[in-house]
Amino acid sequence: MRIFASLSVAILGFALLPAATTPAQAQAVAQTPPMGWNSWNFFAERVTDKDIRASADQIVSTGMKDAGYIYVNIDDTWEAERDANGVLHTNAKFPDMKALADYVHSKGLKLGIYSGPGPKTCGGYAGSLGHEEQDAKMYADWGIDYLKYDLCSFIPEVMYKQAPQDGAARMRLMIAAYDKMGKALKATGRPIVFSLCQYGWDGVWEWAPALGGNLWRTTGDIDPHWDRIYAILSQQDGLAKYAGPGHWNDPDMLEVGNGKLTLAENRSHFSMWAMLASPLLAGNDLPNMKPEIKAILTNADVIAIDQDALGKQGTRAYSDGEVEVWTRHLAGGALAVAVLAAGDTRYSTHPFHLDLAKLGLHGPQQGKDLWTGKAITLTDQMPIEIESHDILLVRIGAPK
Ligand code: GLA
Repeated sequence: MRIFASLSVAILGFALLPAATTPAQAQAVAQTPPMGWNSWNFFAERVTDKDIRASADQIVSTGMKDAGYIYVNIDDTWEAERDANGVLHTNAKFPDMKALADYVHSKGLKLGIYSGPGPKTCGGYAGSLGHEEQDAKMYADWGIDYLKYDLCSFIPEVMYKQAPQDGAARMRLMIAAYDKMGKALKATGRPIVFSLCQYGWDGVWEWAPALGGNLWRTTGDIDPHWDRIYAILSQQDGLAKYAGPGHWNDPDMLEVGNGKLTLAENRSHFSMWAMLASPLLAGNDLPNMKPEIKAILTNADVIAIDQDALGKQGTRAYSDGEVEVWTRHLAGGALAVAVLAAGDTRYSTHPFHLDLAKLGLHGPQQGKDLWTGKAITLTDQMPIEIESHDILLVRIGAPK
């Protein structure tokens, strides 16, 4: 019932859109997983207008823009208080959001922002509760292109207060809150990517697309440790069928270049997020990015896997001890194969033997190793030497 209601109001909403925005345009966002950068993983609450401008500059000068990174997303902590008219003001770190949007747009990039359905955001700043339409309109007036909408205080302040004993009722309240902002964004007539951040609760992948969600977090927060990255990867099994053009599973933003991740771990993280058709939102310190991190984030062959036009998320074909083999079907009949040494204790001293039949493949397969850039032929039972936490990523079949 809820989905039908959402759809009919969505159709009505399109009828009310300003003439300049057709329904097709409004729906055209995120036809491939959104790519860009988000402030949270590196700057967290310290982020300022200056950091956003500097990061936008870097996205252009490092070649990341040319590689496809377009969204520059401000996460939590830009908000001040509401005035007597309910207008939410920016705090001193963000003196003029419209001017910032103009600056980011002048670089050929898009600007994202963050809020949540509760009275407060996760960082304790003002949320959108009771001001959804007003906030959505303000974002559109500023020229915002992307909204991450984070559940946080809605859980204790609304869900638990209104339905302390009834989990199903709490979930209905949550879905209604996302529906409300989805409609508010649509009503602005501006194409704004709608990112649901509610940590993968209540089968979000089943209901988010109908209320205009372009991506939805499938897990709790990522952090720059291999164990966390691998735990998130393991939780993606079974979700592939819910992803497709315009609507994507989001295993959280990238930690490539953050913390103490090794180069192998950075490579594996980036490769697997591409296999998952995940949004690629870098989260590192761009002005101080090392060349080897830039090389990972701008690897065009790996990005092409992520951005493949078929939009079909990869799946785990099989695992064997600490090694996992994933495949992703690509446009034109090509296939990406990832062999991941996920565990801590298996080294290249003990090669892994690839079982092609388990991938539905028969006979030698010519392809390209996307990290060395060299040709490679996959053969049945071939020994593959991979260090712990490293990956072999191969594209076989039709060239891109
Ligand atoms: C939550 C989200 C993070 C980040 C912070 C900001 O934890 O999951 O991605 O947005 O809030 O406060």
